Amino acid sequence: PERPFEFRVRDLALAEAGRHQLRLAEHEMPGLMALRAEFEDARPLAGARIAGSLHMTVQTAVLIETLVALGAQVRWASCNIFSTQDEAAAAVVVGPNGTPEHPEGVPVFAWKGESLEEYWWCTSRVFDWSAEAAEAGADFTGPNQILDDGGDATLLVHLGAQFEADGRVPDATAGDSHEYRVILDLLRASLVESSDRWTRVAGGIVGVTEETTTGAHRLYELERDGKLRFTAINVNDSVTKSKFDNKYGIRHSLVDGLNRATDVLIGGKVAFVAGYGDVGKGAAEALRGQGARVIVSEIDPINALQAAMDGFQVSRLESVIGEVDILITGTGNKDVVRLEHILGLKHLAIVANVGHFDNEIDMAALESLEGAERVEIKPQVHEWRLPNGRNVLVLSEGRLMNLGNATGHPSFVMSNSFTNQVLGQLELHVNLAAYPLGVYTLPKVLDEKVARLHLDALGVELTTLTPEQADYIGVPVDGPYKSDQYRY
Ligand code: NAI
Repeated sequence: PERPFEFRVRDLALAEAGRHQLRLAEHEMPGLMALRAEFEDARPLAGARIAGSLHMTVQTAVLIETLVALGAQVRWASCNIFSTQDEAAAAVVVGPNGTPEHPEGVPVFAWKGESLEEYWWCTSRVFDWSAEAAEAGADFTGPNQILDDGGDATLLVHLGAQFEADGRVPDATAGDSHEYRVILDLLRASLVESSDRWTRVAGGIVGVTEETTTGAHRLYELERDGKLRFTAINVNDSVTKSKFDNKYGIRHSLVDGLNRATDVLIGGKVAFVAGYGDVGKGAAEALRGQGARVIVSEIDPINALQAAMDGFQVSRLESVIGEVDILITGTGNKDVVRLEHILGLKHLAIVANVGHFDNEIDMAALESLEGAERVEIKPQVHEWRLPNGRNVLVLSEGRLMNLGNATGHPSFVMSNSFTNQVLGQLELHVNLAAYPLGVYTLPKVLDEKVARLHLDALGVELTTLTPEQADYIGVPVDGPYKSDQYRY
């Protein structure tokens, strides 16, 4: 785009600090750097116009610059109002060779502490490619690929196109959240300007790659209901994503968030983890590692049995609520922590969520509780004074606390996730015919490739099959080594 191009971040003066962090992160992201080395000359993503909606962190900055190195054009927003690292956002706008006065990088629309109105405005900005189209002398209106985390970007396109087909945006109903009302308002304004903007945007998109459990869940629902408008690659369910990022990532960033937010000693405390999926397993292990006594809850008998066999007490939240010092949710479900739970907690217990959306904790009920008072200790840390005389600490207003109170997962584990993301974007751009409309995971050979790219950095010595051994267990010497049913 013509410089200076449109963007919205906190402060470009932060770019130099961000660039230092990016440089260090690159060293910890061998998968992404290997893809740069492999594809830099061929630039196989040339012609890809990627609209990204994913936490605008240092690690995401390395992802964005990898997509650009492979030839893509990119516009970016964060997928959470608190998760942006302002210095990373600034560095991406300035670019590796630009200056704050002459930015040469990527249009980013993200800052830490957006309002919901600003958040959805930012999300809508990644779909406006009129500047890029004018520069290219082309007639596209939007991106041709989405890179999503949690499905908000995909949701906006689908809702926009659906309301345009209906000719109207419905009125909000009593049960709708404040956030949904914000989306309706935005789309209503858009419909006044154009009757087919989102239909054209949706029509130009060939596919999305989705980062997380909650977003993948939304995609399978769209597919089931016959509403999916473009191909989707579920990156989350690559083994090298969910079995690493969700688990080992949270094992690192949950405790990081607790420490930065409260610095309360975890050892000896009673910690409760709702959900024993990939995220819950990492959370429970980290809290136990700090010396907490950890209690887990589950609705699935298989996960409940796993938790028990791993040595955790498995209880319903209401049975133990009065003992809990630190209450963590990581289920991807809603209403897991309700008002009656919050009112049953000890004085100054901590409540925090590491599932994707803020409805895991019924924040709406807390906010409308008569006689409750909210005191800001510092940004993203609030003491709620309850009418029962006790206070609780709520982190990141009930949103992802490992990103709101800390800086999310560290680079090395995100390199695994984001290498899958880049491979997914490549599949959409150069191999779309293999993915007719539907939701897919990447082939196992690519999953194994992602892992392989991270072995050297850790000094891992991989054993090689002899041809006789390969024959004996019925796999090729170079893989893939497991059937799709294998669970790791
Ligand atoms: P998962 O599906 O592996 O685990 C969720 C578990 O919660 C399941 O075992 C399910 O049976 C259980 N569950 C559902 N409702 C429950 C309830 N009412 N009470 C107790 N347990 C319940 O999903 P995963 O991968 O662990 O992800 C969980 C959430 O975390 C998702 O929203 C995902 O998007 C998010 N996530 C967050 C990350 C972060 O950085 N904070 C990283 C990765 C994922």
